[in-house]
Amino acid sequence: MTFEADIERVLFSENEIRARIDQLAGELTRAYADRDFTVVSVLKGSCVFVADLIRRIPIPLELAFVAASSYRDGTQPEALDVIFPSGNEIQGRDVLLVDDILDTGRTLKRLRYEIIERGAREVKTCVFLDKPARRAVPLQADFRGFDVEDLFVVGYGLDFAGRYRNLPYVGALRESVFQAAGDRRGAAPRA
Ligand code: XMP
Repeated sequence: MTFEADIERVLFSENEIRARIDQLAGELTRAYADRDFTVVSVLKGSCVFVADLIRRIPIPLELAFVAASSYRDGTQPEALDVIFPSGNEIQGRDVLLVDDILDTGRTLKRLRYEIIERGAREVKTCVFLDKPARRAVPLQADFRGFDVEDLFVVGYGLDFAGRYRNLPYVGALRESVFQAAGDRRGAAPRA
C-alpha cells in the first residue's frame, strides 16, 4: 500500500488551502498593521502552515517557536511538556500563537498561560483547523482557517505516528491504519 492510499478522503485540497490562507493572511495583515509582533509557531505540527502563512503577510514580524509534546505517565491521562528556546523572544511582545489544530483546547490554553507568564503584552491565537466538537476547555481561536469534523486528520503538517506531515492537503486517515497501529482513534502524541 502506498502512503497516499492510507487516506480515506481529502477534506481540504491544496487549492482550497491556498485560497483560505490568502484570506487569513489578509485578516492578519489588517489586524497587525502598524504593530510590531511575534508569530510563535507550535512545533512540529504548525510548521507547514506557519511557513505558508507568514510569506503572505507583507508587514514586519518576528518568528519564534515553542515545542509542546504530550505524554502519558501512567498516573495522569495526559501531560504536556513545553520547551521555549529563549525567554526574551516573548517579553513585552504582541504574540500571535499559531497551532495546527484546536482540539480539546488544552494545549493552547496552557501555552497561552506560559506566554503571558513570560511577559507578553498580548497573546492572540491562530489555528489552521478547528474541531469545535472536541472542545474540553472554553477557548476560541482569534483567527482560524477551517472548521473540521470530528475525524482524525493528517497532512499539511499534521501527523499520525510521525508520518503524513508532508502531504500537501488535509485528509482523513483510513480506520485500517489506526487498527494496524493498535490505536482505534489514532490519538497520536502531539509534536
Ligand atoms: P488539544 O486537544 O490540546 O490538542 O487542543 C491539540 C493537538 O492535538 C493534536 N491533534 C491532532 N493531530 N490530527 C492530528 O494529526 C488530528 O486530528 C488531531 N487532533 C488533535 C495536534 O498535535 C494538536 O496540536
